[in-house]
Amino acid sequence: MKKGRVFSGARPTGKQHIGNYLGAIQNYVKLQQDYDCIYCIVDIHALTTLEDTHMLKANTYDMMLDWLAAGLDPEKSILFVQSHVPEVMELHTLLSMVTPLGWLLRVTTFKEKVKMQPHNVNYGLVGYPVLMTADIVLYKADTVPVGEDQLPHLEIAREIVRRFNNIFGPTFPEPQAKLTNFPMVLGLDGEKKMSKSLDNQIELAASAEETTRRIMAAFTDPARKFRNDPGHPEVCNVYSLHHFYTSLKLDEIAKKCRAAEIGCVECKRMLAENINKALAPFREKRAQLAEKSGYVDEVLADGARRAHAIARETIIEVRGKIGLP
Ligand code: TRP
Repeated sequence: MKKGRVFSGARPTGKQHIGNYLGAIQNYVKLQQDYDCIYCIVDIHALTTLEDTHMLKANTYDMMLDWLAAGLDPEKSILFVQSHVPEVMELHTLLSMVTPLGWLLRVTTFKEKVKMQPHNVNYGLVGYPVLMTADIVLYKADTVPVGEDQLPHLEIAREIVRRFNNIFGPTFPEPQAKLTNFPMVLGLDGEKKMSKSLDNQIELAASAEETTRRIMAAFTDPARKFRNDPGHPEVCNVYSLHHFYTSLKLDEIAKKCRAAEIGCVECKRMLAENINKALAPFREKRAQLAEKSGYVDEVLADGARRAHAIARETIIEVRGKIGLP
């Protein structure tokens, strides 16, 4: 017996990086053992920022290929693209009728977006959490693995569900967040969270050479100017990445860095080697899957078909509960 149904969505950001892997994908893969899982690439949500729409297809393909190579298994989970199951947009509209506008205007992510794109404060941006709620409840998911930044959205989702159930009778389970307790992965600039838009990432699918080149150019401990200066691993970006890829030698690296027994170049070389070793099986599998022509499209078509079957049932039930003629 499975413990429940998981739903999670991620925007189509294209090739995934080690921050995506350590923070989310790895956890998605693990949840497949105990839960009935549905993972979705949310292309409609991506439209709220209207960037690079011509890249949506390629980004969706690259992202799904990475998910599959990392261990998301279409035999175990439903893997699909949000827009392939248009019922979500119907449910979004119906849920919007029980969602007070005040709730949405108070959401911090909305206020941040208004600041970030004052030229494009569109209606979809306000409705973002309603669409996210529709994603989750269309499949009657009870468990939603997300990062902390998504907690306000989940809170709204629960409020919408409560309101809907109150008005029209028990229909949806209240979705619970399942926090991915993972430390933030810093980017190669040593300042910000790893992210593609900041170009401070290490892509899972990059070649070993490219990975090494990027790591060798990474920012390190700012106080360590010369090879013989003592280092400060606690503030060093490269050291923080060693946590994930060289965990057995962490103390040794810290000691040698503090005593200036190893320099940053050596330390980075070791990191690059370990990351490349850890990612080798992923890269091999990705290359194999990329060779199989049409494979990703088949996975997505099958995922959409299975998601659609569940979505149809929910929509029929919802229309009935509301009393639509
Ligand atoms: N809002 C999420 C993000 O920006 C993406 C998302 C859309 C999502 N629908 C979802 C996450 C449903 C979990 C469940 O990361």
